[in-house]
Amino acid sequence: MKKYKIAVIRGDGIGKEVVEEGLKVLTDVSNSYDFSWDFEEYPWGSDYYFEHGQMMPTNGLDILSEYQAIFLGAVGHPDLQDHITLNGLLLPIRRRFDQYVCERPSVLYEGIQSPLSGKKPYDIDMVVIRENTEGEYANVGGFQYLDFPEEIGIQTGVFTRKGCERVIRYAFELARQRNKKKHVTSITKSNAQGYGMLVWDRAFESISALYPDIQNDSLLIDAAAMDFIRNPEQFDVVVGSNLFGDILTDIGAIITGSMGLASSANLDPQNRYPSMFEPVHGSAPDIMGMGIANPMAQILTGAMMASHLGESAAAHNIENAVRYVLRQGEVLTPDLGGHSRTSDVGNAVVDSLGLQ
Ligand SMILES: NC(=O)c1ccc[n+]([C@@H]2O[C@H](COP(=O)([O-])OP(=O)(O)OC[C@H]3O[C@@H](n4cnc5c(N)ncnc54)[C@H](O)[C@@H]3O)[C@@H](O)[C@H]2O)c1
Repeated sequence: MKKYKIAVIRGDGIGKEVVEEGLKVLTDVSNSYDFSWDFEEYPWGSDYYFEHGQMMPTNGLDILSEYQAIFLGAVGHPDLQDHITLNGLLLPIRRRFDQYVCERPSVLYEGIQSPLSGKKPYDIDMVVIRENTEGEYANVGGFQYLDFPEEIGIQTGVFTRKGCERVIRYAFELARQRNKKKHVTSITKSNAQGYGMLVWDRAFESISALYPDIQNDSLLIDAAAMDFIRNPEQFDVVVGSNLFGDILTDIGAIITGSMGLASSANLDPQNRYPSMFEPVHGSAPDIMGMGIANPMAQILTGAMMASHLGESAAAHNIENAVRYVLRQGEVLTPDLGGHSRTSDVGNAVVDSLGLQ
């Protein structure tokens, strides 16, 4: 029987609560298939920082390199500046393991009311592919005259032709595999950012030429933000830089019902290193400890992990169970208009495994 070695980092805030439910569902679903999980927990995050002065141990990345995948909740603490939590844990993991694709589906499920009027189930069904290792989040820059009135901060966006082409190629392959609208939209801002974004545009032009069966277009980020609200039905696969993908996927999450439904995967598509599976949402300090966080994003993220590891039947089983619970509409957390608790939703998904 196959056994998958997974590093689990619950992280901060609601991350701790929703990972519990994710593990519950993953463990239960594996009983119906010919594989099992070997979960190892690491208590890294903000609490670890308060105790040790760093978000993870110095050899944290070496430890993680021994695993097949990383299952993470969220990081972020009100008493810690976000650049510390992000640069101390998430970004080094994404870069060191060359997780250059961040894949984020946005689907309007049956039973969910979009804040946009008149949208029917599955009217919105798209995947945003976000470049995940360079772009605006490359750790390149510096300060001059730190803490003086003349203070200067320089932040450099890094756009390499290779880095752009490989993530754009992934987007086209996905459009083929999805076999839906067979359309890829590039997000750019080359009208105002005439260097890095032009490398992006040229990469898109050269890769799109290799996929004559897939339609494509290019939108400026400002127009794309508008169209995510005005006409989200038009999108199939959307590919954008690190920053643009980050922003658009919050819009994608909220127009399909809740941050609590938005799953995400940080992938090394070539499987040289562990990929990392964490939902779009953060640690949600406003609801942490209240037991009302929606665990479905984490659970669906677990399905993405199972799929990435080759367990697609188990992944579909989890997705179908989530769809079933949403369609029934009886066990929902407050973000979806219900009164249920985080663990109730996890239990309901477990009970719905195997149902259509
Ligand atoms: N990948 C990550 O770990 C990640 C991502 C985004 C933000 N953050 C961090 O998280 C902290 C909080 O950030 P934020 O408030 O901007 O974003 P957030 O995603 O944590 O929360 C935004 C809003 O969505 C709600 N929400 C989020 N997830 C939910 C869920 N599962 N169920 C129900 N409601 C949910 C929250 O209650 C809040 O009102 C910050 O420190 C930020 O840096 C981390």
